[in-house]
Order: sequence, then structure tokens, then C-alpha cells
Amino acid sequence: MLQRTFSIIKPDAVSKNLTGAILSEIEKAGFRIVAIKKEFITKREAEGFYAVHCDKPFFNGLTDFMSSGPLYLMVLEKENAIADLRKLMGATNPANAEEGTIRKKFAASIQENAIHGSDGEETAAFEIGYWFAGYELL
Ligand code: RTP
Ligand code: MG
Repeated sequence: MLQRTFSIIKPDAVSKNLTGAILSEIEKAGFRIVAIKKEFITKREAEGFYAVHCDKPFFNGLTDFMSSGPLYLMVLEKENAIADLRKLMGATNPANAEEGTIRKKFAASIQENAIHGSDGEETAAFEIGYWFAGYELL
């Protein structure tokens, strides 16, 4: 089943000029880029996006980091997109990420880990709607 997921190239990767390299991995893996935009999000926008983590000890650091510099917001499409992107990303902590994954190749730490991907169907629907209007999804 053709499926859409939501992804972010995080500020650490953008500041290290890794945007093209990460997009290349994503396209090589068979994803179509339905929408992409560069944004410099506010702390408040980051808090709304990561509201599910609001009680976690890393919430403040995470939302500071996500609002620290420009990032790329993306909607990606392929068969089984949600699970396949999570596989391509690798583990949250790059130290535990498998060889060949984006986080293994490009991430620096558990927080500055280069890429976000939705973790389920409901999350993907919420996250796409949080950042994109219907007319932007082409
Ligand atoms: P993401 O939501 O960004 O795709 O990452 P994920 O599912 O692999 O990890 P999640 O548990 O949802 O955590 C969201 C993001 O918070 C940061 N984090 N920091 N310092 C820490 O212990 C810690 N744990 C998580 C990471 O940037 C993680 O991707
Ligand atoms: Mg997550």
C-alpha cells in the first residue's frame, strides 16, 4: 500500500551541509519527495510538534535544538513508507544504529541525530497536518 510519512532533516545535519547527502539516501531507498520546505521554527512550534515528549527530561534540550537553526520539513511517499523510513534512519542513538543507516553515517549524538521520521500512521497524519496544508502536497 502506497503510504506517506513525515520527516525532518534536523538542524545539526543542515548546518553540516548534509542535506543533499541525506536526500540522496532517501531517494535511493525509493521514496518520492511529495513536499519539502526549509524553515527556522520557533521554540513554541517545536514544543507543539514534540508535545508527546513534554514530560521527558530531554524535552527542553530537544526543543531548544530543533529551534536552533534552519531545518527541512518533508513529506515522503512509498510502499510501507513509515516503517521503511524508520529502518533507513537507524536507532535514535547513533551509537546503536546499524551500519548503512542515516544516523550511523551522519548523526553526532542521541539528540543531534540528523533526521526525524514518524513512528506510526496516526503520528504521520498529525505531523503532516502540523506542518503542511493540503495544497502543498503534490
Ligand atoms: P524522532 O522522533 O526525532 O524521529 O526520533 P525517535 O523516534 O528515534 O526518538 P524519540 O524517542 O521520539 O525522541 C525524539 C527525539 O528526542 C531526542 N532525544 N534526546 N537526550 C536524550 O536522551 C534524548 N532522547 C531522545 C532525539 O533528537 C530524538 O530523535
Ligand atoms: Mg519519535
